Amino acid sequence: MSESTKGVSPHQVGEAWEEFVQEQVYPEPNTKAKEDYRNYENPARETVRAFYEENHRKQTYEFVQAKRAEFLQLNRSQMSVFEACDYLNTLVDDSDPDIDLDQLQHLLQTSEAIRADGHEDWFVLVGLLHDLGKVLCLYGEPQWCVVGDTFPVGCRFSERIVYSEYFNQNPDSRDPRYNTKLGVYREGCGLRNILMSWGHDEYLYHVMKDYLPEPALYMIRYHSFYAWHREHEYDWLCDDHDRAMLPWVKKFNPYDLYSKSPNPPNWEQLRPYYTDLINKYLPAAIAF
Ligand SMILES: [Fe+2]
Ligand SMILES: [Fe+2]
Repeated sequence: MSESTKGVSPHQVGEAWEEFVQEQVYPEPNTKAKEDYRNYENPARETVRAFYEENHRKQTYEFVQAKRAEFLQLNRSQMSVFEACDYLNTLVDDSDPDIDLDQLQHLLQTSEAIRADGHEDWFVLVGLLHDLGKVLCLYGEPQWCVVGDTFPVGCRFSERIVYSEYFNQNPDSRDPRYNTKLGVYREGCGLRNILMSWGHDEYLYHVMKDYLPEPALYMIRYHSFYAWHREHEYDWLCDDHDRAMLPWVKKFNPYDLYSKSPNPPNWEQLRPYYTDLINKYLPAAIAF
C-alpha cells in the first residue's frame, strides 16, 4: 500500500470513494447530501483526498502503458465468476468490520435493482460483474490504480474531473506531447483508441470482451468515466459508435450509485438464478 493511504484497508478507500462520489460529486438528483457527509474529521474522507492526489499525480501515459503490458495478458489466474466474487470478498474480511456493504453485496444489489426494473438479462449480468476488476487489489495493486474516476491519458486532463487541481503534479501536464486538447490522438478517433487511466474498469473490459454484448462492454469499460458520461467532456475524442453507446453507460450509472437496499439480497437464495445467467454468457473458467 502506498504511503498516503497506509493504515486504511483497500476496501475502506473503495467504499469511501463510492460514498464520496454519490454524496458530493454526483448526488442523486433532488436529494440532500447526507448530514454525516460534513464530518470532515472522518479519516476516510481525508483518505479520499489523498487517494486522488496520488492517482492524479501518477497516472501518466507511460504508467498506463506499463500497466497494460503487465496485466492484459490475462495470465494470472483462471477463475469462475463465483470464484472471482468469493475472491473479491476476501478484501472485506481483512478490513474494518463496521463497513455495512461488502463488495459482493454491492454487486448483488446493483444486479438485483437492474433485474427488478425488468431489463435484459445481460444488463443484470453487468450489475453482478461490473466491479470484479477490483481483484487487482488482491494482486497487490495499490488503490490509486484500481478504483476512482477514470479519464483519458495522453491528452489534456479535463477540469471537470474530480480533484482536477492535482493534475498539476502529473508530469504529463507539462509535457507538450500530452498536454494539448487532442494530445497523441486524432479528433473523433473513438474511445477504443484512447488509453484510459488504469483501473478495474479497463481491466475487466479485457477480461470480458469476448463474451458480452457491446452495450454491456461499454458499461463495464466506462462506468467510472464520469467526465464523459456525467460531465459530457471528451466528446472530441468520440466517434458515432461511442455516442450511440453513451445512453447505455448512463443507464447503468444510477444502479451502481444508488442501489443500496435496506434488505440485502441473499446470495445463497439467488445462486441458482445467477448460475444460469452466468452459464448463458460466460465459460466455466475465465482468464484474469
Ligand atoms: Fe466500479
Ligand atoms: Fe460499483
